[in-house]
Amino acid sequence: MTKIVFITGASSGIGEAIATRLSDKGFIVYGTSRKKRSDVDYKFHFLQLDVRDEQSIERAISIVIEKEGQIDILINNAGLGMIGALEDTTIEESKSIFDTNVFGLHAMCKAVIPYMRKQNNGLIINTSSIAGKIGLPYRGIYNATKHAIEGFSEALSMELRPFNIKVIILEPGDYRTNINTNRKISKESLNPSSPYYHSFNRTLDQVFNEVNTAWSPEKIAKDVERIINYKYPRLRFTSAPLKQKLSILMHKLLPARLFEYIISKFYNV
Ligand SMILES: NC(=O)c1ccc[n+]([C@@H]2O[C@H](COP(=O)([O-])OP(=O)(O)OC[C@H]3O[C@@H](n4cnc5c(N)ncnc54)[C@H](OP(=O)(O)O)[C@@H]3O)[C@@H](O)[C@H]2O)c1
Repeated sequence: MTKIVFITGASSGIGEAIATRLSDKGFIVYGTSRKKRSDVDYKFHFLQLDVRDEQSIERAISIVIEKEGQIDILINNAGLGMIGALEDTTIEESKSIFDTNVFGLHAMCKAVIPYMRKQNNGLIINTSSIAGKIGLPYRGIYNATKHAIEGFSEALSMELRPFNIKVIILEPGDYRTNINTNRKISKESLNPSSPYYHSFNRTLDQVFNEVNTAWSPEKIAKDVERIINYKYPRLRFTSAPLKQKLSILMHKLLPARLFEYIISKFYNV
């Protein structure tokens, strides 16, 4: 039977690539954006949804349930980058990223799980990051949101096992998407009077460059297509170049201060 996929943040980048590929492969795909998207001709059904707005979530989910009767796969992909020194970052700036990356993902799970429980079947893919496994300078808030998704998803996986709903944590490395343009920057870190200004700006250039020269998101879309066809998928999948995958391994194996030294040297902080 044709599977019904619901994916948040499908207007660009990783979400758009996954939605397009799965649609090409015969899945029925519903992708979302905060904006109305009649201007672009996407290969999948488009719905308006803001993960921070529970009413918009309910509206979008009920459209799919009315039409298809079920949701087989939920891909929580919507997310925002954030960069800035932690001392410079205001609590409001921090909260706004948590609203999208963590509470928005929680709200999506709460809205879809009841249908999956009734079906006694389902798959939820939560998008974390390599930044959900290791801390990186000036990415502290983004790190915190993605580490939160890791813990949340481990717990969710155990809670949903009795209902035959599987949970997968997707950990992308760098991908060439609009994340650079959409990333929030702590205002104060851009102020030349910030004690972090010079070091922060070096890291900012490096991070932009890493994304601009990274793999195209079609690569991760292929990985996701493979993963969702597994009968017994692992809990975690890292989709990244070897160097970035190795950083997770080094983080596990090396003494913490040595790992910290290597990363600090790498980013010249
Ligand atoms: N690119 C990377 O290097 C990388 C690495 C690791 C993890 N990730 C993760 O991958 C996911 C996708 O990022 P991307 O790189 O593809 O970035 P992107 O091109 O900026 O796409 C982000 C998507 O999220 C949507 N979005 C943002 N805020 C939203 C909200 N409040 N409600 C609903 N949708 C919202 C955007 O849609 P609208 O603006 O149209 O609403 C857009 O479709 C994110 O969770 C990101 O953290 C990316």
